[in-house]
Amino acid sequence: MKHPIVLGLQYGDEGKGKITDSLAKQSEWVIRFNGGSNAGHTLWVNGKKLVTHSVPSGVLYSHVKNYIGAGCVLDPVSLKKELSEIKQSGSSLGGDRLRIDFRAHLTLPIHIALDAAREGGSKSIGTTRKGIGPTYTTKMDRCGIRVGDLFDNDSLKDKVQFLCNTYNTLIRAQDLAESSFESNWSVVELAQELLREHVAYDPTPFYDVAKTHKCVLEGAQGVLLDLDHGTYPYVTSSNTLASHAAAGTPFPLSRLGAVIGVAKVYMTRVGSGPFETELANEDGERIRAKGGEFGATTGRPRRVGWLNVDELRLAVRLSDCSHIVLTKADILTGESVVKALSQGVLKEFPCWKAIYKDDAKTALSPELESYLSFVEAEVGVPIVGVGTGADRADFFWRGKTPDFWG
Ligand code: GDP
Ligand code: IMO
Ligand code: MG
Repeated sequence: MKHPIVLGLQYGDEGKGKITDSLAKQSEWVIRFNGGSNAGHTLWVNGKKLVTHSVPSGVLYSHVKNYIGAGCVLDPVSLKKELSEIKQSGSSLGGDRLRIDFRAHLTLPIHIALDAAREGGSKSIGTTRKGIGPTYTTKMDRCGIRVGDLFDNDSLKDKVQFLCNTYNTLIRAQDLAESSFESNWSVVELAQELLREHVAYDPTPFYDVAKTHKCVLEGAQGVLLDLDHGTYPYVTSSNTLASHAAAGTPFPLSRLGAVIGVAKVYMTRVGSGPFETELANEDGERIRAKGGEFGATTGRPRRVGWLNVDELRLAVRLSDCSHIVLTKADILTGESVVKALSQGVLKEFPCWKAIYKDDAKTALSPELESYLSFVEAEVGVPIVGVGTGADRADFFWRGKTPDFWG
């Protein structure tokens, strides 16, 4: 058996959470391999909304176990809030339903203070200010605090003290208030309490599981925000490509199969950085309003633009996608035209007046079909499904639903 990866092909917020949730129905494990509380994956089921940040999007199915991989970073304060929102939504995540790799690094107050200090200066990236970049920095610097460290009381205080001493120098250099040892230590104590029942110490938990149990690997952010292959320096600080699914988890490489890339029929970006097809005009404002394009994590308005097929092709190639899902087709319904940049030229198409050809809802409207056929031909990978609304049920498989575990 092989297992699918779900990832974003643009600048994040493509609708990955919704696709992961729909595959979770048939799965036993949903596994996150990168990012932290910068992610916001929205799930709508029967009019009820849940946004996952660090917890994988398998959470709404009680038979699914969720795993946070070593490639992720984890903010205990944010996780506590998220777990309580999940509980309020009616799901409960006891220790066996949420496993957290002991090698994942913790985001502490000092990381959030460092993020704010950098963002307040002249070299701002427009980050989510969740401390993500600094957490990966201290991981690389080999002085970060890992989830497993929480339960090694002999050296933990020294480690937190060293982290604060070393990195407060950067905050002091900007005449900002330091992040005190005490404030970091109190989050460490919270984490000890919160994470104890969830820590996973098995170094290869999926080696055997992947032979018989269906899994889904869920990416955060998007290919164009990848630290190495994205629009550096306007990127996130983790690797978002499919190839990282095996690096950021203890998942056997030979068991990874389908790569499902998720993209919107148009594009959005939050934060700074290039955006060739951006609509910084009333067309962009209208699509932002219709699409509810405000960040699921920060509430910031998302920049909106037409689909850049050249970037989509690049993203599909970088992640070697086998399938594409295009979301939010419903949002453009009724627009007079839809545009897409391809081979460097902005092409114009008549827009669809309805998603479906007729009330039977067994076929998409000819205008939408011809737009999809154009994108598919330009990119060279099949568009297997289309998002037709925010709810779990609002989805159209073009043809037979693929067996992603084949
Ligand atoms: P993620 O980070 O990739 O999981 O995506 P986000 O949750 O940040 O943003 C996607 C937004 O689009 C959320 O508000 C979803 O509820 C919504 N969404 C996803 N797919 C569709 C779709 O096909 N149509 C509509 N109208 N909304 C969608
Ligand atoms: P999901 O998983 C959209 C963007 C930020 C900023 C850049 C760096 O919901 O798709 P960071 O806080 O990671 O250091 O910010 O990356 N960014 C996202 N944009 N969706 C996300 O996650 C994002 N995570 C980070 O806006 O431009
Ligand atoms: Mg999001």
